[in-house]
Amino acid sequence: MQNLDQILTEAQAAFAAIDNPAELEQAKARYLGKSGALTELLKQLGKMPADERREAGARINQVKDSIEAALNERREALRELQLQAQLAKEALDVTLPGRGKHTGGLHPVNLTLHRIEELFRSVGFAVAEGPEIETDFYNFTALNTPEDHPARSMHDTFYVEGGDLLRTHTSPIQVRYMMTHQPPIKVIAPGRVYRVDSDATHSPMFHQVEGLWIDEHVSFADLKGVIADFLRRFFEQDNLKVRFRPSFFPFTEPSAEIDMGCVFCGGAGCRVCSHTGWLEVGGCGMVHPNVLKHVNIDSQKYQGFAFGMGPDRLTMLRYGVNDLRLFYENDLRFLKQFN
Ligand code: DAH
Repeated sequence: MQNLDQILTEAQAAFAAIDNPAELEQAKARYLGKSGALTELLKQLGKMPADERREAGARINQVKDSIEAALNERREALRELQLQAQLAKEALDVTLPGRGKHTGGLHPVNLTLHRIEELFRSVGFAVAEGPEIETDFYNFTALNTPEDHPARSMHDTFYVEGGDLLRTHTSPIQVRYMMTHQPPIKVIAPGRVYRVDSDATHSPMFHQVEGLWIDEHVSFADLKGVIADFLRRFFEQDNLKVRFRPSFFPFTEPSAEIDMGCVFCGGAGCRVCSHTGWLEVGGCGMVHPNVLKHVNIDSQKYQGFAFGMGPDRLTMLRYGVNDLRLFYENDLRFLKQFN
């Protein structure tokens, strides 16, 4: 009986020293469990004389209540500690600035392609596409460039296994389109093209936009009008100068190179235009009768023009970009400027 106070003090000290719930439950067993210290004392009550027994029983129960109270208090305290620890661990600093949202944007060349499509659609052109892996027939032969034609060396071609090739221009789309559509035909065809070439102004992959207008009375005057009108609207310069310089392409006759006045110096001459005042932006011409023959269009009845332009170059000129490679390096610092 004299031990009772000691047991209580000991239990209180033991509980207070414990800082994890599992150990606390083990400690509880030591005092209140089946073979715990108090239970042992209660078992001995029977051996006591009846008069002492009541008083002793009451005292043991008192101590038992106190131990239980100490236990509950510690349980509560531990639960609170655990909660605080968890809160500290998961703490959010609500005063931190937000991460912000960044909107993406279209690639500058895509911006140009969209603009080209919009401008040509507005004057009645449809938009067509074709495969990037082409056959020799569509890329060359049907465009009046047979096997031994010297003009083939104008294009350094990537060949793929089996004899097909990566199209070197968008002109094969003309052929595919004329094989599946009857005149009047008025279409542009944007897309990627490939050539073995790489420096500041050449990339092995670049873009072209092909144009084709076939009808009964389409003339070179229409060609000049459509191209000049397009360039003036594209560069938003009503009096932009445009000139057509005689040239050669196997699939057109006559053929011409399209030049426009330099948008940087206004024609006075600068580094961009190599001090000529002119910038070359594409090729064009009246579709060669041999091409029409390949696609079964009667060249006595129908005629028309075709052109090919470089949207990468148009993008460089419009935004003042001086290195073509910037378009294909995916440097966000560059691309961000077009958002
Ligand atoms: N296909 C030519 C090239 O890649 C560009 C071209 C020139 C397209 C004249 C045409 C054209 O449709 O008529 O160099």
